[in-house]
Amino acid sequence: MSEAVIAQADFNSRHWRYPVAGRIRPGADAHFEMLTRLLAETYNPYKPAVLDWPKLEPETLARITSLPIWDIAVQTEIKAAARIRAFARTVRSDKLRAALNHMADEEARHRDVLSRLVAAYDIPMQPEAPYEPPRDTEWGFMVTGYSECVDSFFAYGLFEMARQSGFFPPELVDTFEPVVQEEGRHILFFTNWIAWHKATMPLWRRPYFLLKVAAVWGFLIWERIGIARGVDGLEAGDANFTVNGTKALADEMDPAKLIDICLAEDKKRMAGYDERLLRPTTMPRLARLARRFMRPKQVLKHA
Ligand SMILES: [Fe+2]
Ligand SMILES: [Fe+2]
Repeated sequence: MSEAVIAQADFNSRHWRYPVAGRIRPGADAHFEMLTRLLAETYNPYKPAVLDWPKLEPETLARITSLPIWDIAVQTEIKAAARIRAFARTVRSDKLRAALNHMADEEARHRDVLSRLVAAYDIPMQPEAPYEPPRDTEWGFMVTGYSECVDSFFAYGLFEMARQSGFFPPELVDTFEPVVQEEGRHILFFTNWIAWHKATMPLWRRPYFLLKVAAVWGFLIWERIGIARGVDGLEAGDANFTVNGTKALADEMDPAKLIDICLAEDKKRMAGYDERLLRPTTMPRLARLARRFMRPKQVLKHA
């Protein structure tokens, strides 16, 4: 593939507009059209098999292979693909099912990218555990969707910090950049699916659904507290590599700065998509709230 073709594909994955003018209300038919077209029309057709794995300096290689994130990252992608596919099977609309299967294919591709990285750098891995998605397929999809909302938000910032500090060499940053953006599209899709689903369900179902959303968040917090306490990462489930990645980078990190970068990156990564698509807001809101109680380290040092 030529450089120009790759650059165009990258641009298309970051910029998209639904070609119908006017206001679009969440839950409207046009909103459904928009959300079910988003992933297919912003698809970046990179092939994991042709990715270049740069030869790393021994020090960089040791730093990367010792990051405690690879097992969880692979497991997370396997689970995500299985849960999304299981949910897709229970959905009646052909368009929504196709969009979900598209998302599941992208998760499978992430796993492929990671497997190739692991093989290229000889990263020792635990055997992959088989995974059976939960019986309540909607629950499974929502756990994956909200997990991605949390993890992508931190991944944006960690990735950018790793790039700025040279923790990741630039060639690896380039390889992973489309994956990070892809997760951004996923949470955009998920956020709009939640809004559409809520708006179109019968009124009597809404309280139950809101409870379910709260239960998913409760579950995610419980899982992440488990990981932070040092519970074995794989057993803790969905708490993604960003939690462990945060720990690995913690020494070099200023939490206030990290949040600022996460917020800036979130804005930048979402900026190219149709403004009528709702944005994921929970993490940015929580982060802005937490940020009010923090001061950057440098400021303290010079004070
Ligand atoms: Fe993924
Ligand atoms: Fe994803």
